Amino acid sequence: MSKPSGRPQTRYVCQSCGESFLRWEGQCRACSAWNSLVETQVRTPRAARVGSAPRAGSAGGAAAPITLADVGEPDQPRLAVGIGELDRVLGGGLVPGSLVLVGGEPGIGKSTLLLQVAAGIAARSGPLSVLYATGEESAAQLRLRADRLGLLSGPAAGIRILAESAIDRIAEIALAEPPVLLVVDSVQTATIDDLDGPAGSVGQVRGAALRLMELAKPEGIAVVLVGHVTKDGSIAGPKTLEHLVDAVLTLEGERYAAIRLLRASKNRFGSTEEVGVFEMGDAGLSEVADPARAFLAEHEGPAPGSVIAPTLEGSRPLLVEVQALVAPGPGGTPRRTASGVDPNRVALLVAVLARRAGIGLASHDIYVNLAGGLSVDEPGLDLPLALALASSLRDRPIRPGTVAIGEVGLLGELRSVAGVERRLREAARLGFDRAIVPRPARSGAPASVPGLEIVAVGSLREAIDVAFAGSRAASGGAASGDVPGGQAVAAGSARC
Ligand code: TYD
Ligand code: MG
Repeated sequence: MSKPSGRPQTRYVCQSCGESFLRWEGQCRACSAWNSLVETQVRTPRAARVGSAPRAGSAGGAAAPITLADVGEPDQPRLAVGIGELDRVLGGGLVPGSLVLVGGEPGIGKSTLLLQVAAGIAARSGPLSVLYATGEESAAQLRLRADRLGLLSGPAAGIRILAESAIDRIAEIALAEPPVLLVVDSVQTATIDDLDGPAGSVGQVRGAALRLMELAKPEGIAVVLVGHVTKDGSIAGPKTLEHLVDAVLTLEGERYAAIRLLRASKNRFGSTEEVGVFEMGDAGLSEVADPARAFLAEHEGPAPGSVIAPTLEGSRPLLVEVQALVAPGPGGTPRRTASGVDPNRVALLVAVLARRAGIGLASHDIYVNLAGGLSVDEPGLDLPLALALASSLRDRPIRPGTVAIGEVGLLGELRSVAGVERRLREAARLGFDRAIVPRPARSGAPASVPGLEIVAVGSLREAIDVAFAGSRAASGGAASGDVPGGQAVAAGSARC
C-alpha cells in the first residue's frame, strides 16, 4: 500500500471492463481492449463524509462482530410502489436504503416506468417524498411526460424534479430534505466532481454509484439508478456496477412493439425468479391482464415456420411463438440470423436436423425470431425451434392447436425440462389441445392435463412426424384455423 501523499493518486481504468492499472498501456491486460485505459483519480472511500450518524449494522459505522443468534430478524419495511408487476419483481416493493439499477435499451421505457414509480411512492408516502434527478432530459421534458401519464395533478404533482447531473449536488439536495425515493436518470450522464473522465466512463459511472450508495444506506433512502444498456447487452460498467448495487432490473422488449418484460438479474432482497409483464400504451406502462398470452403473435390460422412454446420465466409460464424462415441461399456462406434465441443453439439444431432427422438446411438462409421481442435462454426452446425450422423448410404449418417443448441432444434424443406440468396447464388454459413433450426419463410418469392431449416422444425425428400429422400443406392457402380437438395422433404418419 502506498503512503498518502499531497498529490491525488491516479489509476488507469479500462473503459471496457473496469480493471485498473498503475501505468498506461495500449491494451488492457484484463480484457484485451485497445486504447481503453483512461487516467482516473483515485478517491478514498468516503463513507463518513456523506450523511449523519450511521445506523447500526449499516455501511459507515465501525463494525463489531456479533453472534449469529444475536442478529435480529430483518425488519426492512418495504415501500410498495403500487404497481403490482414491479412490486412482484422487487419481492414486495423497494427496500429503504437500497440501491437499484434499472437497465434497458434507450427508448424502451425506463424513464416512463420510473416516473410512474415516483408517482406510486408519492401517492403512498406523500408529496415531496420523491426526488427525481434528471441529467438526460430537462424539467420541461419531464413535465411533458408527466402530462402524458396524467400525473400533473394529485400527489404526483408534488414530486421534486431536479435537472442536474452532478451527483454531489444531487446528494446535497437529498440530504437537505431526505426523500423516500431518489431517482437518478441516468447513471451515464452522472458526474462526480473529483474524478476526471467524461460522463459515462467507467470511472464516473462507478464513482457515481458508490456515492449514491453512501447516500442511500445511512439515510435509508431508496435510490433507483437508470442505466442504458450497451449494444452487447451489458449495462455500461457492468462489472463495477452490478456487484455494487442491491438489485439489477432489466426492462426488455422490442422498442416498436408494446410488450415489455421486467426481470431481476440480481436481487439481494428477493428472488430473481419473477418477471413482470407490461404493455406500453398512450398513457405509459400498464400491467398486462394475461401475461401468458402476451408474447403470442396474432395471425389468422396456422403459418409455416411458427411453433408455440410453453416457456417458464421464473415461476411464471409464458407462451411464446417461435418463428423461423428458411430460404434457399444465393450460394456462398448462408445467412444465419437469430433474435431472442442463442444463435449457437440454432447452429447446433441445424446440424442435428441434418444428421438425425434428414432435414438438410446447410445451404439455406435461416432467420429465427421470437414474437414480441422476448429473449429466452432455456434449452426447452430447442424442440420448438427445430420444429419451426422443419415447418418453414416444408412450407407446411404444424398441426394447429399444438405446443412443443423439450431439449434436443446431439444424438437427436429429447430431454425433458423443468416444470412441464405447469407449462402445459397454462397452454390448456389458453386453448391449446395438444402438446409434444419429451418422453419422461425411466421412472417419471407422464404429465396429465385435462383438455390437453400429451404426446410424449423420444427423438427429434419422432417429434417431427407427430407435429405434422394432421396438418395440411400451406401452399394454395389451404391452411385453415380449425383445431381438430381431441383427435388421436398416429406418430410416424407424415413425412415429406
Ligand atoms: P422512455 O421512458 O423515454 O425510454 P428510456 O428512458 O428507456 O429511454 O420512453 C420512450 C418511449 O416510450 C418513447 O418512444 C415514447 C414511448 N411512450 C409511449 O409509448 N407512451 C407513453 O405514455 C410514454 C410516456 C412514452
Ligand atoms: Mg430515459
